[in-house]
Amino acid sequence: DVSSTMNAGLLSAFDSKQVPEMFIEADQSHRPILQDYGTLDDPDLNIPVLDLSFLVTGDKLKRAEVVAAAAKACQTWGFFQIQNHGVDQTLVERCEQEAHRMFQLPLDVKERCHRPPGATFGYGANTWINQKVMHWAESFHMQLHPTSNIREMGFKLFPDETSCQHFSSAVEEYMEAVEKLASQVLEILTEGLGLEPSCFSQYLRRERMTSMRFNFYPPCPEPSLAIGLRAHTDPHLLTILHQDAVPGLQVQMEDKWITVKPKPDCFVVNIGDLFQILSNTRYKSVLHRAIVNSESQRLSLACFLNPPLNSTVVAPPELITPDCPQVYRPFTWLEYLKNAYLYHPTAGNERHERFYLKTL
Ligand code: SIN
Ligand code: FE2
Repeated sequence: DVSSTMNAGLLSAFDSKQVPEMFIEADQSHRPILQDYGTLDDPDLNIPVLDLSFLVTGDKLKRAEVVAAAAKACQTWGFFQIQNHGVDQTLVERCEQEAHRMFQLPLDVKERCHRPPGATFGYGANTWINQKVMHWAESFHMQLHPTSNIREMGFKLFPDETSCQHFSSAVEEYMEAVEKLASQVLEILTEGLGLEPSCFSQYLRRERMTSMRFNFYPPCPEPSLAIGLRAHTDPHLLTILHQDAVPGLQVQMEDKWITVKPKPDCFVVNIGDLFQILSNTRYKSVLHRAIVNSESQRLSLACFLNPPLNSTVVAPPELITPDCPQVYRPFTWLEYLKNAYLYHPTAGNERHERFYLKTL
């Protein structure tokens, strides 16, 4: 099938000395400008790093400080990092190791989990519908909730029982830990909106959707011509990302691309479209992308937290005020998801504005 051939083409491109045509964006404005690297060591020009040790110590004062700082970060950057988050570092490393082991498998083995065009889960090139330019990346997407496909994928990749067990348990344990952290972060951010911390907990009930994508970016001979992951906003509620020590994630701030400083002991949290909508635009779902480099491969693990498909997403009445009238009409996550992947946002918040902005 066409997309299998595409995956083969992709992998052979990664070995070439030049970036093949299919990766090069005709529109120069979509190509990365590598000078944008310059802000890694200036904390004032980067997303804030928040210390979550109060989750363990129970320090109420520290919690209040972090609630305020996180809310501010979500109103401006739409992104922040968290350290002392309580997820065991060896678990993070185990999951990274399994991701590397998976990407190192021969293509015909990875293709047993082939992701057909338009499908969500499995292995393949990282593309969006209607997008012609290929990303300089491979990706693998799995789901934990409402039904897990981790064991099934693990077994296809590693028919040997011990190997499969290593893979599946690392991924499951990692996702469960990150999901638990995500629900704590959700409460912090909900409190930051002046709401009861549990106001959105209905969205994390049993039928919630939790998934994870491994992104692997091989070194690229001409990193100014290719892109690892094109600029986009996440359609989800919350994303909890782990990036390795290699820079690549960039966040847009006032038309500049800011490279998020890699901190392997941290997670990067970002607001997805659904949270922007639930917050009635107080929190921002911000454009971000991944660039590549000529020296090192890069791995990121992105966990996505989402409500049940049939949940109605609507801002609570407390956030609808004369100053800030209701911006979006109520809709279900299923309805949003269909649009999210049909209309890839190449610029701005086109996706949700086009479909959900209520004309008042
Ligand atoms: C993402 O947008 O999914 C993350 C990109 C990355 O940092 O690899
Ligand atoms: Fe993203």
